[in-house]
Amino acid sequence: MNCREAFYGGAAGGGKSDALLMAALQYVDIPGYNAILIRDSYQNLNKPEALVPRSHEWLQPTDAAWIGEKKLWRFPSGATLSFGYLDGPYDHFNYQSAEFQFVGIDECVAIREHQALYMFSRLRRVKAHKVPIRYRTASNPPQRLQAERGDWVKTRYVNPKTRRQGIVFISARIDDNPYLDKDEYVYSLNKLDPITRQQLLLGDWDVNIKGRMFDRSWFKLAKEAPSVFTQTVRYWDLAATEEDPEKEPAYTAGCRMGKTTDGLYYITSMMRFRHAPRQVEALVRQAADLDKKGVWIWMEQEPGSSGVNTIDHYRRNVLPEFVFKGDKVTGNKIERASPFASQAEAGNVVLVEGHWNEQFLEEIELFPDGKFKDQTDAASGAFEKLANVGVIGIRIV
Ligand SMILES: Nc1ncnc2c1ncn2[C@@H]1O[C@H](COP(=O)(O)OP(=O)(O)O)[C@@H](O)[C@H]1O
Ligand SMILES: [Mg+2]
Repeated sequence: MNCREAFYGGAAGGGKSDALLMAALQYVDIPGYNAILIRDSYQNLNKPEALVPRSHEWLQPTDAAWIGEKKLWRFPSGATLSFGYLDGPYDHFNYQSAEFQFVGIDECVAIREHQALYMFSRLRRVKAHKVPIRYRTASNPPQRLQAERGDWVKTRYVNPKTRRQGIVFISARIDDNPYLDKDEYVYSLNKLDPITRQQLLLGDWDVNIKGRMFDRSWFKLAKEAPSVFTQTVRYWDLAATEEDPEKEPAYTAGCRMGKTTDGLYYITSMMRFRHAPRQVEALVRQAADLDKKGVWIWMEQEPGSSGVNTIDHYRRNVLPEFVFKGDKVTGNKIERASPFASQAEAGNVVLVEGHWNEQFLEEIELFPDGKFKDQTDAASGAFEKLANVGVIGIRIV
């Protein structure tokens, strides 16, 4: 299907929502044309200044008729403009039997990827006329709580390394909209924190969303690890075996951490991969061989009998020659990460330079809002094991 896909990404006030509304209205003089504009919730369609009130402002003086119970405009040609939302996980099925020549999704970082992309299946060319089928999305960069759901937007439209070929990305900036009272707008944005301000003012997709728990500047970097640690552990967080089909598969992560006599914690290695269980076992074993026997190995134990079985299997069949223990964790991931975050904030956590540093820092800065938590879990687990170890390497119970 030859569909024209475009994305307006950028500053708030750049004119993205107006541009979507204009695009939707482009062919309403043609019989059989149907357009839809979508947001993340019914409320967000109807707020003052939002798409529905804006459409009323524009169309009230025209011959178009508002059909309230269907939330659509009908034009004298018979063409329609509808409004919809993708809020709950099944809301896309509301459009199962609908057909459109234009789909516009505003603030798409608030919408799940698979639901947004489902709307492609609702696009149909009409034989009788030459109206192009168009799919347009628009968004400001995601705010902290949208980071997980909205990650796909950056991947699909913005990041030059991952962007889809042939899609138009129009970056809106505040200066692009001469109709806005810029001084007043900038003044109102100045009340926001610097990150949100930069996102909204410049439409900056690269600025890192400030971590709720970790700040990357807390972590010191070292070229090499010190030669002596009081104790070193490798802590594994295995990817869950039960996958949620709506989510990307999880990673297995293994963090090796050493504690010095003066109470510093060095992360000397972070392994991370996505493989079938057999291969995971082989890699865990290989890491143990390379780490040598003095490194105690811990593995997060999932609840229930399957967790017991996995640990037992690793002890008997994968790591029989090593000090290996399952860790039955309690509390949620945030509680478990807190002691590690405090040490990091105090400047006591050092990363030994390695290719893994950047992806670790990216994940930990998003934690706990990001899509993946495996490296943070593994590091928090390793830290917990070391923090409870006395100077002579005996575990204090
Ligand atoms: N081409 C335009 N002509 C006149 N006013 C515009 C135009 N584009 C946007 N505006 C106005 O500027 C303001 C911000 O535009 P909006 O579409 O809400 O921006 P965004 O969705 O990017 O935050 C709105 O009041 C809008 O009506
Ligand atoms: Mg808008």
